[in-house]
Amino acid sequence: MHAIAVSEYGATPALMNLPRPEPGPGEILVKMIAAGLNPIDWKIADGMFKDSTDAPFPLILGRDGAGVVDDVGEGVTRLRHGEQVYGCFDQVDRGLGSFAEYALARDDGPVARMPEGMLYTQAAAVPTASMTALAMVEAAEIDAGHTVLVVGATGGVGQGLVQLAAREGAKVIATARDDMAGTMRRLGADETVDHTEDDLNRQVLGVHTDGIDAVLDVVSDTGATEGIAQMLRPGGVYVSTTWSVNPDAMEARGLRGINLETEPSAEMLERLSDLIDAGELRVSIEREVPLADAPEALADSRAGGARGKTVIRI
Ligand SMILES: NC(=O)c1ccc[n+]([C@@H]2O[C@H](COP(=O)([O-])OP(=O)(O)OC[C@H]3O[C@@H](n4cnc5c(N)ncnc54)[C@H](OP(=O)(O)O)[C@@H]3O)[C@@H](O)[C@H]2O)c1
Repeated sequence: MHAIAVSEYGATPALMNLPRPEPGPGEILVKMIAAGLNPIDWKIADGMFKDSTDAPFPLILGRDGAGVVDDVGEGVTRLRHGEQVYGCFDQVDRGLGSFAEYALARDDGPVARMPEGMLYTQAAAVPTASMTALAMVEAAEIDAGHTVLVVGATGGVGQGLVQLAAREGAKVIATARDDMAGTMRRLGADETVDHTEDDLNRQVLGVHTDGIDAVLDVVSDTGATEGIAQMLRPGGVYVSTTWSVNPDAMEARGLRGINLETEPSAEMLERLSDLIDAGELRVSIEREVPLADAPEALADSRAGGARGKTVIRI
C-alpha cells in the first residue's frame, strides 16, 4: 500500500510502498479515504517520541483520518465491516499512522462512526483539533460572562476554541492577522487582536482594563505565557497545549494553570459528532491535497500560518 513515512527520525517524509497491516484481536482495519494533518505529525517525524517510544522504521505518519472498516479482528463487537468511521490511527510503537491506504485502530480505541451525511474529508479534519478544543474549554470551565482570550485562534484547535467558548456564552477575544479577523467574528469572536501588530497585553488591556478571566493558548512558549498571564484577574485560568504553564507559580498568584494533553476517545468523538450535527461546531478546511503531496503539506504546517485544516485525500 502507499503511505507517507520517514526512514528515520529527522528524515524528510516520503511516499513509500509498504505492507498492508493485518488486524489482530480487538482491532479493525480501515481503508482510509482521507487523513487530517496536525502539527503533531511533523513533530513525531522530527523525533518527539524518540526517548519514550521505540518506533520501527519506516514509520508511517498521520494521526487523524476517516474511512471504511475493511476487516475486523477476532473479538471486535462495536464496529462492523463497511461502516464509515473517523478518529485517531497513530501507533508510533508499531510504525503505523493515517497517511496510508490502510490503517489499524482498536475497537475500543478513539474511533467512532462518522456523523450522518458528513464527507470523509470533513470528518478527517475533526478529531485531534476539535477534541483538544473541547477538552480545553471544559478544563477551563468557561462560562457565560467570562472574558476569554484565545491565542492561536486561526488554526485548527483555535477555530474550535473560539466556537466552543462562544457557545458557553463567553466574550471571546481571538488573536488573528488582519485577513482572518472577519472569519474569527463569524465563528463567534466578539473582538480580535492582531498578534503581529502590537503587544497583546497592550491591545487587550486597552479595552479590558480590569483584566480577563481565561486564556486558552495553543502557541506560546513559557516566556510569552508568563507575560500573557499578567492579564488574568484573581481566580483566572490559563490552559496551554504547549506545556508552557507553570501551575505552581500560577497557584501562588491565585490562578489556575493547566498544561493540557488531549486524551482521544470514542466518547469524545461521539460528543463532537453531536455538536457538528447540531450545527454548533464547524471545521473549516483550508486545503486538500493528494497523498503524494503530503510531505509538502507537512512542511507548510511546520512553517506556520494555518488558516484552518489541511486534509489529505487518499
Ligand atoms: N497537548 C495536546 O494534546 C495538543 C493537542 C493538539 C494540538 N497541540 C498543539 O497545539 C498547537 C496548535 O495546534 P493547531 O492544530 O491549532 O496548529 P495550526 O493549525 O498550525 O495553527 C496554529 C495557529 O497559531 C497561529 N499563531 C502562530 N503564532 C502565533 C502567535 N504568536 N500568536 C497568535 N497566534 C499565533 C497561526 O497563525 P499565524 O501564523 O498567522 O500567526 C496558526 O493559525 C500545536 O503546537 C500542536 O502540536 C497540542
